[in-house]
Amino acid sequence: MDQKIHNILFVTNDLAFEKRLNESLQACFDVWKIEFARSTSDALTMLSQKQFDSIITDINVAGMDGFQFLNIVSQMNPGVVRFAFSDSRVSHQTIRSTNLVHQMIPRNGSIDNLFTIVERVCCLRDRLLDPQLRNIITSIKTLPSVPLLYNRLVRELDSDNASSQAIGEIISQDPAMTSKILQLVNSAFFGLPDNVSNPQRAVSLLGFNTIKALVLGIHIFAQYQGQSNRFISIERMWKHSLVVSNLSFKIAREIGLNSQDQEDTRIAGVLHDTGKLLFFNIPGFFQKVIPGKNGIMTIESEYNVLKTTHEEMGAYLLGMWGLPNVILEAVAFHHHPAKVISNKTEIVTALHIANGLVTMCERDMEMNIEPYLDMPYVEKLGLTKKMDEWVSEAKVLVRTT
Ligand SMILES: [Fe+2]
Ligand SMILES: [Fe+2]
Repeated sequence: MDQKIHNILFVTNDLAFEKRLNESLQACFDVWKIEFARSTSDALTMLSQKQFDSIITDINVAGMDGFQFLNIVSQMNPGVVRFAFSDSRVSHQTIRSTNLVHQMIPRNGSIDNLFTIVERVCCLRDRLLDPQLRNIITSIKTLPSVPLLYNRLVRELDSDNASSQAIGEIISQDPAMTSKILQLVNSAFFGLPDNVSNPQRAVSLLGFNTIKALVLGIHIFAQYQGQSNRFISIERMWKHSLVVSNLSFKIAREIGLNSQDQEDTRIAGVLHDTGKLLFFNIPGFFQKVIPGKNGIMTIESEYNVLKTTHEEMGAYLLGMWGLPNVILEAVAFHHHPAKVISNKTEIVTALHIANGLVTMCERDMEMNIEPYLDMPYVEKLGLTKKMDEWVSEAKVLVRTT
């Protein structure tokens, strides 16, 4: 995909700040077209006249209250990616809980940082706004639903007094889910020493985010149970997802991601191939696939039929379910991590390596790593020295899960 020029609108009535932004962003002018609005009413007029990709606003600008303004922007043009400069007068928690801002940007931070934050969200948005992808998704009559239980868990986790007890009680109200979670938690996969007999205990042993990922994964895979064909076995795919989740979580820890990113990596691992499930909803898809070597459906086979792939389709679906951008990004680029604008290790790094190594162990008796990983990307991040160790872990996980 060619680099798209992004139209960015800054909203600030701080003229010195405007000048600083304008000067320091000159280096980005080949990929950004920048405009400034000095009041919220000016900004709304500009947004009604022209398509912007992103709006970056001070929270207190001349005109209306910043939240009211962002609310109008989100309704007027939901496709515009919204950022706000952090402002000590408003707590991050308040801004986050309104859900009106994709991300906060430090007002005194580096311009490189600002550019990277905004550009990578815009690139993800471009990928998910691809007309062919939208055509495919809108042609699917019944998309898999997000479980009501998941929404209740998210609400509970967002509350101030979330506890293992409360989360466990919510899960207990769904007996089918409870038994599947307990079955999984007691399987060799988690390797827990004692028998876990209730969801409260499962939550306290595995953590909120793992349970959330399992609820989502179990629910979506259950909707496709029994639908396997010559290219996809739902049972094998579920196992693959769990193994990738487990290995990518370990890799995330070893490449120094923080604990929130480690947890998000685990969730991304369980859900990374969700887009493949949607192939079952596309009439005639499997008849049109021309398999690659050994009769396997490759990412190229998918692209040749759909002009999009399971990466984008999965990320799109997870976006509809309200999962955070960091997870969508990792899913959207898990076969193409170098497309993420970053020069450091990320969630997508762990997911790409885990997915590649697990797939290699599942398919390739010769254990030839090259076709499964973007080696220049892995080398650039200095991760090749860990590879033998991760291959051994992948082998064990694939064999024992
Ligand atoms: Fe994949
Ligand atoms: Fe995969």
